[in-house]
Amino acid sequence: MTIIVTGGAGFIGSNFVYYELENHPEDRIVCLDALTYAGNLATLEEAMKNENFRFVKGDIADRDCVNKLFEEEKPDIIVNFAAESHVDRSIENPEIFLRTNILGTQVLMDACRKYGIKRYHQVSTDEVYGDLPLDRPDLFFTEDTPIHTSSPYSASKAAADLIVLAYHRTYKLPVSITRCSNNYGPYHFPEKLIPLMISRALADQSLPVYGKGENVRDWLYVEDHCSAIDLVIRQGREGEVYNIGGHNERTNLEVVKTILRELDKPEELISYVTDRPGHDMRYAIDPTKIHGELGWLPQTKFDDGIKKTIKWYLDNEDWWQNILAGDYQSYYEKMYKDR
Ligand code: NAD
Ligand code: DAU
Repeated sequence: MTIIVTGGAGFIGSNFVYYELENHPEDRIVCLDALTYAGNLATLEEAMKNENFRFVKGDIADRDCVNKLFEEEKPDIIVNFAAESHVDRSIENPEIFLRTNILGTQVLMDACRKYGIKRYHQVSTDEVYGDLPLDRPDLFFTEDTPIHTSSPYSASKAAADLIVLAYHRTYKLPVSITRCSNNYGPYHFPEKLIPLMISRALADQSLPVYGKGENVRDWLYVEDHCSAIDLVIRQGREGEVYNIGGHNERTNLEVVKTILRELDKPEELISYVTDRPGHDMRYAIDPTKIHGELGWLPQTKFDDGIKKTIKWYLDNEDWWQNILAGDYQSYYEKMYKDR
């Protein structure tokens, strides 16, 4: 089979490329990625050595580029990771989120209709469900929880999900969607909470915690996300949505303090800064459906995964130092100067 992985030079997409090359050496993996600020070809250096892997630089919203790739590769499966993914950036500048996340998805789906495929898979997020209150630990997101988005990012992801489902209903396109909770692990871009805090703590810099740090996220080790998507694209039912998460809820403050403890750094580095506008309080996934239908269960508990992740950042300092040396420094100044 030939699988096109869009956004494969980003965090989760690259982990998925490696997961597929290792677990399905019989398949050809073609990565389509525009290499935005979040895409890093260095991440795919090892994959480039594999003859079953091809990298193509291109934009999912560019119809000619996408059609040409479909004509060349005749893919069986498309897994769409390509997206603008950072909530804070969507608050600063929503437009690119609508273009890539919504129109890009539509261009891919049109190509699927035109050329025919076995499966189009949309990598979505639990953020489409909005948030849960902190005082109701009994509540979880199920696949039937209404869409109720908060940020331009999550609204764009929800719009894409609805388009995917519409193409299934109207054109009978074989689609599936997964909605996953917060990932962490290797190759996570250092603007997101966990890698940001690791890299700043290592440099003895202040750690900017939004509000009181009470917000809760349901953390999933990235490899567990990859194994779930792999199951859904091969065995999941067409037209279905599957939630992915593993009951690893932590407040942001707990996460930051864990990182400080592991790195033997003082809690005085924590700096409480102005909250994110519209900040979602709590995400928590009920993974009953994917467990019951496909037998999926996460393998990595947060306490182990965070240790592995910190070790990865210590062992791969060049990877993230190169990123920090680039445009990212001016991004940090811009986003945090008035906080
Ligand atoms: P990321 O920002 O690390 O990577 C995104 C990748 O997409 C980059 O390589 C970038 O170059 C590429 N890209 C962006 N615009 C493109 C375009 N127009 N055409 C082609 N490529 C483009 O993102 P991530 O954290 O790896 O997330 C991947 C997907 O998973 C996203 O769709 C996101 O919504 C979803 N998701 C992420 C998380 C998480 O915790 N990070 C959780 C659930 C779902
Ligand atoms: O739930 C899935 C989502 O998880 C994905 O769809 C998104 O693509 C991904 O970015 C992530 O969104 P979050 O907004 O939850 O992730 P982020 O790492 O930006 O923030 C995690 C929490 O930490 C959130 O409550 C905000 C807080 N935070 C974040 C940063 C960057 C801070 O307190 N300080 C910070 O500097």
